[in-house]
Amino acid sequence: MPAGPRAVVVTGGAAGIGRGAVERFAAAGDRVFALDRDADALAALEAELGGRVTGIVVDVADRTALAAAAERVSEALSDGGGGSDGGGGGGRGSGSGGLGALVCAAGVQRYGTVVDTPASTYDEVMTVNVGGVFFACQSFLPLIPRGGSVVVVASVQAYASQHNVAAYSMGKGALLSLVRAMAVDHAADGIRVNAVCPGSVDTPMLRTSAAQFSGDRSTDEVVAEWGRSHPLGRVAATSEVAQVIHFLASPAAAFVTGADVKVDGGLTAQLAVVLPEDAR
Ligand SMILES: NC(=O)c1ccc[n+]([C@@H]2O[C@H](COP(=O)([O-])OP(=O)(O)OC[C@H]3O[C@@H](n4cnc5c(N)ncnc54)[C@H](O)[C@@H]3O)[C@@H](O)[C@H]2O)c1
Repeated sequence: MPAGPRAVVVTGGAAGIGRGAVERFAAAGDRVFALDRDADALAALEAELGGRVTGIVVDVADRTALAAAAERVSEALSDGGGGSDGGGGGGRGSGSGGLGALVCAAGVQRYGTVVDTPASTYDEVMTVNVGGVFFACQSFLPLIPRGGSVVVVASVQAYASQHNVAAYSMGKGALLSLVRAMAVDHAADGIRVNAVCPGSVDTPMLRTSAAQFSGDRSTDEVVAEWGRSHPLGRVAATSEVAQVIHFLASPAAAFVTGADVKVDGGLTAQLAVVLPEDAR
């Protein structure tokens, strides 16, 4: 993998954590392909970030569409749009430089216990949050040469669960298993695979959930309350997760693979035990 600007694919790149990652890579001079099902948000992203970002409308639940998107990215790389150099050929180790990183951030949050989650909701969560990562990797890994990497956005809910998110938690746990399996399978290819596990991050997804459970309170109040449950006392900004994604995808993390990195403000470090003098 040559040093310098790279080509990067980010699923779910039009909003939230994915968008934060797109902004971070673009700021570093990389050529970013943002995949998302929200065509309007992708158009706005392209308009805002200029020529470094190409939006591709894809539903990650659609394996055929993911394969077609990979074909499109491969052709763009062959045409010389891949970053540091511009030779022909789009595949692994080709003169184009290939794809430097794949970031899988597309995901949905759905609620329910194992008893009351409708089968359709279970199918949606598995198809988008797990299948969407599995098949994005299946489509894009062949474009990644030695030195490239994959970063999967999992969640603290891979380690511990709140109430009423059975399918979501299950899917995030599955992602950590997939990351380890891919890390082992592709280490010999020189490709690293890691996960980030965020706590609460201020995104449209978080605010939709906050609005859903706000009752008489404002969304801001609910977000602030959720922030106070993290030892650092607040929710994360998308840029704070994006910095870790960028690090994991960079040569600075050259010996890091199969890892799951918490970006959770201490949330999972804390036991829910409060001594009277600690109450605050
Ligand atoms: N926000 C949080 O607090 C938080 C915490 C831990 C993990 N996560 C995870 O981070 C990832 C991003 O979450 P977010 O909060 O930024 O969400 P978000 O809803 O704010 O943004 C997600 C983006 O992904 C896109 N997307 C959703 N489903 C898609 C599909 N089927 N195909 C293509 N694009 C699709 C959306 O259009 C949107 O642009 C998710 O995997 C989520 O589970 C979020």
